[in-house]
Amino acid sequence: MNPHVFKIIHVLSVLLLFYAFGALSSLSAEAREGTTNNRTADNANAYAKRIYKALHGLALLLILLTGLAQMHLLKTGFPVWIQVKMGVWLLIGGSLSLVVRRPHWRSWTWALLLAIAAVAVTAAIIH
Ligand code: HEM
Repeated sequence: MNPHVFKIIHVLSVLLLFYAFGALSSLSAEAREGTTNNRTADNANAYAKRIYKALHGLALLLILLTGLAQMHLLKTGFPVWIQVKMGVWLLIGGSLSLVVRRPHWRSWTWALLLAIAAVAVTAAIIH
């Protein structure tokens, strides 16, 4: 298959990942700050969080699979820039708990997430 197809899905999955992070960040802040003060709203918040956690997982899986597919089709081997991207992938996966459990740190978390995503994007473009 054309590697461009995988690249398009790869980049769209990164967008999906950050959409899920954004939703989880605001839902977690809402739950912590107690802006929801009834059981129905709390249940709706918990349900929405489950959906966005699943989206986060789906996006991570798609990033990995389309990344591996491009490696195969472009015959990149396993150079340092790919190793860096895999490190970023692990960090971004692990930062879900930071977004959900520490919503009051969200300004810092956002800066950190953007900085590590910038490393992966730079590694993909300049190598
Ligand atoms: C398992 C981890 C990953 C692997 C194996 C991987 C692999 C790849 C490969 C092989 C390419 C094609 C590069 C080329 O055409 O020369 C690519 C492109 C790209 N990757 Fe990843 N990637 C991974 C994670 C990520 C992450 C976490 C991000 C961003 C947060 C990201 C952003 C991009 C972007 C923006 C491109 C397109 C660059 C261009 O315009 O050519 N990747 N990736």
